[in-house]
Amino acid sequence: MSKKREDQGTNLLYKLIGEARGYDDVIVMGRGDPDFDTPAHIVAAAKEAMIHHHADYSPPAGLPALREAIAERVKRVNNIDVDPASEVVVTNGGQEALFLMVLATVGAGDEMIVPEPNYTTYADSLDFAGATKVEVQTWPQEDFRADPALVRAAVTERTRALLLVSPNNPCASVISPGDMRELLDIAIERDLMILSDEIYDLFVYDDFAHTSPAALPGGKERTLTLNALSKSYSMTGWRLGWITGPADLMARVTELKAATTGGASVISQYAGIAALTGPQEPVEMMAAAYRRRRRLVLDALDEMGMKYGLPQGGQFVFADIAFTGLDSAEVAQRMLTEQHVLAYPGSAFSKDRKDYLRMTFLQPEDKLIEGLERMKVAMQGIMAGR
Ligand SMILES: Cc1ncc(COP(=O)(O)O)c(C=O)c1O
Repeated sequence: MSKKREDQGTNLLYKLIGEARGYDDVIVMGRGDPDFDTPAHIVAAAKEAMIHHHADYSPPAGLPALREAIAERVKRVNNIDVDPASEVVVTNGGQEALFLMVLATVGAGDEMIVPEPNYTTYADSLDFAGATKVEVQTWPQEDFRADPALVRAAVTERTRALLLVSPNNPCASVISPGDMRELLDIAIERDLMILSDEIYDLFVYDDFAHTSPAALPGGKERTLTLNALSKSYSMTGWRLGWITGPADLMARVTELKAATTGGASVISQYAGIAALTGPQEPVEMMAAAYRRRRRLVLDALDEMGMKYGLPQGGQFVFADIAFTGLDSAEVAQRMLTEQHVLAYPGSAFSKDRKDYLRMTFLQPEDKLIEGLERMKVAMQGIMAGR
């Protein structure tokens, strides 16, 4: 493993998670796994599939019934029209979807523009593809808005695609409909693809609204859209996601899928059909809980006098810890070792955000309150020079 990979991004996070596992009383305010159980009717569908021996290989693109359920979902939620037979591929979670999308669109020497900060494995995926990640900075004063003017200025002859995530991980910004239109216009003018990561599309707060570029006029033919059941149905370990996009590119994605992991687990796919076609109340219940917890976390940070970019969507808050004078990796390490509370260092998401911590709302309210209290004690210790 290279020194770079050992210390940064994904590997830094895995190191902290490893240490956290050693503490019985740890409060995990960093990790992205929802704390809710997978809804019972979804688990029942998986059991049913196992008992009836629906355990053969799946077609590489996924079971037709699941692809149909996905096509129906993206029409209903995102207003994207796709043909289930040729424009949907089921993946092993959002992670594989991301990797396949990157491999299908860029190669050595190509550039992809990505607003910073962003999800840790974007850099890893682009690295493996031999492509360059061109970063466009966003600012806390603007709640981490991806400014289309800066994106436009970053386009070169080598640019092949824009990689957009809205709602964003880690900084929870949402791309407005107007900005999304402008970003798509840039893609049309410069003949670029858009890779759109919409894994948090069901979690948007206040008056903010989710926009799918593939739903806008001129968007569908140049957009690959990623989504997954991981966050919305509390199914992170089931490893189920999807990509939708134009048929020619999806044929390429299907080839890559067949050559790497083949079709996703059929047991999980039967569960996925139940998730997408069954009752949606559990999703609404979880979304309502995240709304309450977000308020609770923001109120506690306000009370501590900490600054943050307003979380417009997603399941995170990206909080400013510049006042400590320490690197976020050190602050996260001290919070974990001294107070057994795990938050993720901003440096794992962007080299320019060493003064931020990412916290998630994925704990019951009593644990969140306790975690925030411990965080306050850790911060007081740091400020007192202890
Ligand atoms: C923005 C974003 N994209 C993709 C993924 C990967 O999703 P999955 O857990 O389904 O592999 C995550 C996971 O946290 C994420 O935050």
